[in-house]
Amino acid sequence: MTRFTSHWEKVYIENSALETSWYEESPAVSLELLELTGMNADTSVIDVGAGRSSLPATLVGRGVGDVSALDISAEALRQLDDANGRVARVVADVTEWRPARTFDRWHDRAVLHFLHSEQTLAYRDTLLNALNPRGSLVIGVFADTGPESCSGLPVTRYSETDLVTWLGEPFDIVTTRRHTHHTPWSSAQDFVWVVARRRDPVVFQ
Ligand SMILES: C[S@@+](CC[C@H](N)C(=O)[O-])C[C@H]1O[C@@H](n2cnc3c(N)ncnc32)[C@H](O)[C@@H]1O
Repeated sequence: MTRFTSHWEKVYIENSALETSWYEESPAVSLELLELTGMNADTSVIDVGAGRSSLPATLVGRGVGDVSALDISAEALRQLDDANGRVARVVADVTEWRPARTFDRWHDRAVLHFLHSEQTLAYRDTLLNALNPRGSLVIGVFADTGPESCSGLPVTRYSETDLVTWLGEPFDIVTTRRHTHHTPWSSAQDFVWVVARRRDPVVFQ
């Protein structure tokens, strides 16, 4: 168990949902941006760092047939609404995870910004291993005007350009979005979101 695992286990054991800054009553921005990518009953979605978000169960409720939730904290996933077993739960560190299958959609709200330097490269490797060709991603992180730490951990803040540059060559950007999240105690947190589509692999003949 790494110190990050024990940090997050403790967070979910000791704090109710309303005691965590990232709590939102409805995952409205995530849903809106995922809808932009076009989803149907056959679409597979992984929510990376899902915590105990209502997003996975909401997607199941909207008819998405193949929904997975990954988190470093087993306790978070124990508390997650798994829609009566229809959300597959994966306990793993995204920077070390070797996915046994691939997905059509990758969603991350408020996870990437906890990673720094080479950890972000490891995250990107996992993303590229997990996402199907022509699959899409929706990632939301603290903006350059957002908080400098969260849950007692330092974060990396991003502008739209930072995020797009980090994603790099194999993606076409569909859109970026700024959104201010209000914590349960009414603090404002600026997020920047990106929606991108993975390009077809180039075939050399
Ligand atoms: C700020 S919370 C966001 C939770 C959820 N995405 C949401 O919007 O409610 C960050 C989540 O990322 C998870 N996490 C942090 N580092 C991780 C890592 N390296 N791999 C997988 N999950 C991680 C934490 O356990 C936590 O659930």
